[in-house]
Amino acid sequence: MKRHPERVVTWRGLLEDMGKGIGVASGGHDCQETRWLLEAASGMSLEKLTLSMDEAASPEAMTTLQEMLVRRDSGEPLQYVLGSWGFRSLDLRVDSRALIPRPETEVVVETALVEIGASRCGSGGHGLKVADLGTGTGAIALSIALEGRTLVEEVWASDLSGDALDLAALNLEGLREVAPEAAAKVRVVQGSWYEALPEHLAGCLAVIVANPPYVAEAQLSDLPVEVRSWEPLQALIAGPTGLESLEAVLFGAAHWLAGSGCAVVEIGADQRDAAVEIACEAGLDDVSVRSDLAGLPRVLVARVS
Ligand SMILES: C[S@@+](CC[C@H](N)C(=O)[O-])C[C@H]1O[C@@H](n2cnc3c(N)ncnc32)[C@H](O)[C@@H]1O
Repeated sequence: MKRHPERVVTWRGLLEDMGKGIGVASGGHDCQETRWLLEAASGMSLEKLTLSMDEAASPEAMTTLQEMLVRRDSGEPLQYVLGSWGFRSLDLRVDSRALIPRPETEVVVETALVEIGASRCGSGGHGLKVADLGTGTGAIALSIALEGRTLVEEVWASDLSGDALDLAALNLEGLREVAPEAAAKVRVVQGSWYEALPEHLAGCLAVIVANPPYVAEAQLSDLPVEVRSWEPLQALIAGPTGLESLEAVLFGAAHWLAGSGCAVVEIGADQRDAAVEIACEAGLDDVSVRSDLAGLPRVLVARVS
């Protein structure tokens, strides 16, 4: 994006150049993407940017934008380049320390919130304790703390990855700024699945929610290159069968759930039958699989009686 020094470059000019691929190795970016990149580089809200389109772009923003375009053209996911991404009502910080939260996981949260609303655990449906295992950015845990704040007393957010938890902690700070009472309910803890939780929670959780890794090792090469080259493998790969993490979460659930509590777990679209079988083997009842917005079977729900 080299420009003649004395020529005034407006935000609109930058946007048009990006659309044409000027300064971009791989050609033009799509319209929505260029707007997001420009918004992030400018540091302005979309509304403010829209009103300022014919004003001169700052040199700092032009430098930032150039750096972002180079990263994007190297194949880095848009969300990591932007550094933040929307998930339900949250604007989360995202980077290569954790998986980019996906739309299907918003359905997992929706399902968990319905279960929380209908829960008979806790004192009269209030004071519920919830755990999000493998929290990554904290997307699930923070959404439940925010949207379920009148019902939930504690939301435990755990992960094996210290890097992911550092990012989750930053997102928790972000939540604290907008909803301190919701943020105060969140506990961030490190460890493998249930090992991260204090033993006093055993038999006390109303809902266990998780989006565990569910890709089999041999299927790594089937993932889009943007995913397998940039997102943490620990967040994607479960092991040789792809079911290892699901087994760990479901086999531990009965010990940690309160009576009539339930597990809500995201699964791969081809794992419905295997997941139901594992839930039954784990001694869970009332097992069902819900569909995501694309109609694919992605959310396993199972209870203790
Ligand atoms: C598919 S990502 C989900 C991240 C986040 N919950 C979301 O939905 O965006 C799976 C997460 O599980 C974590 N994980 C992998 N193995 C784990 C283990 N043994 N114990 C706890 N967390 C683990 C990964 O670090 C990763 O953050």
